[in-house]
Amino acid sequence: MTFSVSSKPLSAQNADLLLLPVFEGEPVSSDIQGLVEKRMKREGFTGKKNTTLLVQTQTEVQNIVLIGMGKDEPNAEDILAFGAIGARKTKAIRGESLAVCIPNGWAVEHIVTGILLGNYSFTKHKNKTLEQSTHIKNVTLLTSADVKENIAYGETIASAVMFARDLVNQSPSQTTPSYLAAIAMDLAKNNKDISCTVLPREEMEKMGGLMGIARGSSQEPKFIHLTYKGGEKVVTLAGKGITFDSGGLSIKSAQGMETMKLDMAGAAVVLAVFSVLPKLKPKITVHGLIPATENMPGPGAVKPGDVVTAMNGKTIEILNTDAEGRVILADALSYAGKHIQSDVIIDFATLTGACMIALGEDVAGLFSNNKDLAAALLKSAKHTGEKVWELPLIEEYKDKLQSHVADIKNIGGKYGGAITGALFIQEFVPQGTPWAHLDIAGPSFTEKDTPLCPHGATGFGIRMILDYLSNR
Ligand code: BES
Ligand code: MN
Ligand code: ZN
Repeated sequence: MTFSVSSKPLSAQNADLLLLPVFEGEPVSSDIQGLVEKRMKREGFTGKKNTTLLVQTQTEVQNIVLIGMGKDEPNAEDILAFGAIGARKTKAIRGESLAVCIPNGWAVEHIVTGILLGNYSFTKHKNKTLEQSTHIKNVTLLTSADVKENIAYGETIASAVMFARDLVNQSPSQTTPSYLAAIAMDLAKNNKDISCTVLPREEMEKMGGLMGIARGSSQEPKFIHLTYKGGEKVVTLAGKGITFDSGGLSIKSAQGMETMKLDMAGAAVVLAVFSVLPKLKPKITVHGLIPATENMPGPGAVKPGDVVTAMNGKTIEILNTDAEGRVILADALSYAGKHIQSDVIIDFATLTGACMIALGEDVAGLFSNNKDLAAALLKSAKHTGEKVWELPLIEEYKDKLQSHVADIKNIGGKYGGAITGALFIQEFVPQGTPWAHLDIAGPSFTEKDTPLCPHGATGFGIRMILDYLSNR
């Protein structure tokens, strides 16, 4: 899909579809006003939010889609959705070109990202469908502003999100720990600014948590360490890389397992970020850590009651093998403490169903030991239209993680499960390092089909973390 810019009037456009935002109670400000307002009246279309109207004409542009924007100033989500609906409508009429009317002040990058994400579908495992044979080829953005850089940024962001969606959507027997390691090595091979180490077995043996969870699987675990060097400040990102979560011996129900290929969505965030860092070139250094394994109930599997030792020497009693994410992240954070001088550590993990009970499926939980870091991440999430809500690290609840036989146990009882999960991870954060944990169990995967994302992986968190890293 290629983007170009035109400042010619709307009536001079000859795209298959013209996308036009309409604000409630305001006139349609364009040279085709007369053409559409009659139809709007007839159809009772007022520009109310979440409404659209297709107007077909005998003029150059045959299809005009009016998108109701409501009364308020549109936010990032609204603008993304505007672009995404445009892409969906173009595909629906099997169009190849789209022209987009852009009001002054709108973030063009969001329109570009919205169009690209609206056009996304995961068809790798399907035989040829009609959908695969139609493609939007050209998008013309109607504006007189200089938006070259905004277009490039929007394209870069969308490519990262789609990269992650593909990884998560793919069959989990294909997206294995070794597969993730190969992807990471590839990123390093193709970019001189990135280096990658996949830990040798004897190094990994020091990670009792990761090795313990991996014991029930026939797949080799991998520990991936990516580095991008761009400046003094050091940000370490860690992503949960459970390529399939069966629950292990504390096995999940059949239904509970249906979506558990999503359990490496945190790892996908990290890989997706590295896939675009060489383009965005932020002036910071970024480390990416991915502990990757399956969680399976094979004959060697870790048993409830087993004690494992994380890389920092702390012992963990595993009472529920389905609380595996925190156990492998314990090793990732221990590794960070041992090998990296981080100014900030941020982890992404599809950690708890409890977070979904608390916030619903669309909202990520944010935990942090540092007010400024939490505020910066919330600001970035607002910029990119991703829903994040801060939850508390209640000191007193640490008691829930007391083990009879080890330093800590991996479950904290019935209540406050998202919090006890975060508190467990906090125990492994290097002393004094600002840290944030994003529990993305809910928003990483959608069972609804929305303009911005079809059923499946969403790529949640990538847009906000890229906003944070590139300090926009
Ligand atoms: N991967 C799951 C969390 C999850 C659940 C993500 C649903 C997305 C959708 C995690 O490993 C898990 O199983 N957590 C348990 C923890 C419990 C045993 C303390 C949970 O949430 O039930
Ligand atoms: Mn689990
Ligand atoms: Zn899991």
